[in-house]
Amino acid sequence: MKLKVYKDYNELSAAAAAMIIDCVKAKPEALLCFATGDTPKLAYEMVADRAVKEKVDFSGTFIIGLDEWMGISPDNTGSCHWFLHEYLFKPMNMDASQIHLFNALAKNEKAECDKMNKLIRANGIDLMVVGIGMNGHIGFNEPGTDENSLTHVAVLDEITKTVGQKYFAGKVTIEKGITVGLKQVMEAEKLLMMANGKNKAPVIKKAAEDNISTSFPATLIQKHPNGFLLTDNEAASELKQN
Ligand code: F6R
Repeated sequence: MKLKVYKDYNELSAAAAAMIIDCVKAKPEALLCFATGDTPKLAYEMVADRAVKEKVDFSGTFIIGLDEWMGISPDNTGSCHWFLHEYLFKPMNMDASQIHLFNALAKNEKAECDKMNKLIRANGIDLMVVGIGMNGHIGFNEPGTDENSLTHVAVLDEITKTVGQKYFAGKVTIEKGITVGLKQVMEAEKLLMMANGKNKAPVIKKAAEDNISTSFPATLIQKHPNGFLLTDNEAASELKQN
């Protein structure tokens, strides 16, 4: 794992955006898997902005949404679906055929997981962009998730249910999430994990310095052969050295 610490959220986001753009320039048919949330938002806006201004060709890429809140409609502004359309797909004018998001209203959860597993197996993920939950989750791979897990529906941790309210306009009941599995996260060619802000400092300390364990899934980044942990100064402030 390589740790990179940037001055602030702006610089962190610019660096993450550059990694995404560089990946696509190197492999125009790349399969990218993107988390949503507060952390990567600016990076995606920067990607969209640069792609348009610099005419970076994303037309051959495929984008997978890392996860989704089960039972939440795609037009809910708190959904991962809405987020990726709003900050990335719409500004980049991306074609629907390039986009692979979970259907959180699907009756057949297994079929929904199988579809994603098939796509990942067939292509392999070139670049995976993830944030870190306050409980160390990656996607909705909650503490204790099997390291060999593929795409699955997870019962959400209490911390995830509480923190997750921040994305929604009003109080919602969120019990389950569908997510790409830890095995698939770890098998991505490149893993980019991002965190910013003072409230993520204890989480980053654990992710980078604790023993590797699925009881804090973010620690797995330590053993990814091409893993990058990108933070701002605030999120890195509790690290022994950076
Ligand atoms: C969302 C996702 C989550 C978030 C994590 C951090 O698609 O995969 O694991 O990355 O909960 O969220 P923020 O960035 O809002 O702090």
